[in-house]
Parts: sequence; structure tokens; C-alpha cells
Amino acid sequence: MIALGSDQGGYELKQEIIKHLTARGLEFKDYGSYTSESVDYPVYAKAVANAIVTGECDRGILVCGTGIGISIAANKVKGIRAAVCTDCFTAEATRLHNDANILALGGRVVGPGLALKIVDTFLDTEFSNEERHVRRVKAIED
Ligand code: RB5
Repeated sequence: MIALGSDQGGYELKQEIIKHLTARGLEFKDYGSYTSESVDYPVYAKAVANAIVTGECDRGILVCGTGIGISIAANKVKGIRAAVCTDCFTAEATRLHNDANILALGGRVVGPGLALKIVDTFLDTEFSNEERHVRRVKAIED
């Protein structure tokens, strides 16, 4: 189950992501916001982060204007490793190396075509489980 969240800066891109996940037959839960009205992104970052640390969802995708504010907020929750990605290389690397559990995107930064490729890369790449990466992720958590 994939947890989704956005503010007004990411609302439109989140709608594209919803269509894409639906077309791929992937299950998701949208934690809001549900309109393009101005809201405070930490609220949605927290909702998605909590869904992951409680085990309700496996991965999350958060979208704000830049991906930055919403990822900073999500990373305050213990157990969350949220990564802002603007390309497929970093989306793949953050899964392989950091076992990132939330992808953060900037709705005002990446267009929908690239964003959906980044989403696919993030969702389709497993953690490498290599000893050095396991050790480093554990050190973050500790
Ligand atoms: C909202 O205008 C904007 O600040 C927000 O979407 C995000 O870019 C913050 O990092």
C-alpha cells in the first residue's frame, strides 16, 4: 500500500500520480489534501509518515511545490527516510543505498512525464541489502 500526500503546490501532480498508480493496478491511500486550496504541508507529511511507521503503508509519495518542505517535515518522524528526487538516478540510488521509504517530489520542479518515471523507479527498486548500506541506514536510525 502506497501512502500519498500533498499540499497545494503538489496537488495537481499528485492527481497525475493517482491516475498512474491506478493504471498500474497499485494500491494507494490518499492522506490529503484533497483540493488545491492553500494548506500547511507538515500536516500531510505527518499523516503519510505515520502511515508508514505504523505499518499501514509500505512506501509514501509526498508532493509539495519543491518537495523540500514536505520532506523536511516527514524526516522528523523516527523511522522515516524521505528523499527529494528530481531524476531517476537519485530515485534508484536512494532505494538501493538509503532504503528511502518516502519519495518527495516538487510539483513546481518536475513535469508529469519525468515525475512518473521517477515514481516508477522509486517503487520498482528494492534496497540492495549490502552490508555497508545496512550499517549506514542502521546508524541513521540509531
Ligand atoms: C507552498 O507555497 C510551498 O512553500 C510548498 O509547497 C513547498 O514548496 C515547501 O517547501
